[in-house]
Amino acid sequence: MRKKIVAGNWKMNNNKSETADLIQALKSLSFSTDVRVMIAPAFTHLAQAEELTQAGRIEVLAQNMNANDSGAFTGEISAKMLHSIGIDKVILGHSERRAYYNETDVGLKQKVKTALTYDMEVVFCFGEELDQRKAGSHFEVVQSQLETVLFDLNSTEWSKIILAYEPVWAIGTGETASPDQAQDIHAFIRGLIASKYDEDLAKDVSILYGGSVKPANASAIFSQPDVDGGLIGGASLNAEDFIAIIQSI
Ligand code: PGA
Repeated sequence: MRKKIVAGNWKMNNNKSETADLIQALKSLSFSTDVRVMIAPAFTHLAQAEELTQAGRIEVLAQNMNANDSGAFTGEISAKMLHSIGIDKVILGHSERRAYYNETDVGLKQKVKTALTYDMEVVFCFGEELDQRKAGSHFEVVQSQLETVLFDLNSTEWSKIILAYEPVWAIGTGETASPDQAQDIHAFIRGLIASKYDEDLAKDVSILYGGSVKPANASAIFSQPDVDGGLIGGASLNAEDFIAIIQSI
């Protein structure tokens, strides 16, 4: 079901008490029922975050997971483990995972399948790099990422998918896609889904934008018809900024 979503990706930031403080600061916030607010703390703080948010509407998601249930995968965390502590959402395919840990669309397809087996929602990240944008191949890049990872899912499985278009050149750089650039590619993505599946399914999918969203640019981006919210990195680490972004949806 298409909703407006603001999700904070806290990456490898915040110790235990900083995580708790940030959650406390967000807890008093009230927001409309057609908006979802999510936070993705580090693995070590997920159980604590889940407990602290139990009474409210803030949802907790993991930043990554392994495609396997268990086994000799030193340093990895499985969907099964996340499920056992009540985490039912995960970010997959973040560009930092792709760039620093060699994650590929083929591997991500497996992760998405595993997450769906555990009935988890997936925030699937994808987007082009700077040279691809400069070469004008961003539409093709995005199409190939979606086709490889998601286009053999059925429509029931799609109800668990949230898309996050994140141009790599805009992540953590202070460079943002303009509202028009975001709208163009979001409309293209929705069109691809409509032609592969149907209009109803395409209309139901939430498509978030990510990449240097700040209080100053959030409402211009979020007001685009095919932008359903944002995946926020740096600005989600500051309670005041994150709240301002949530309030601009
Ligand atoms: P940023 O990160 O907002 O710091 O650019 C976005 C993301 O990595 O999801």
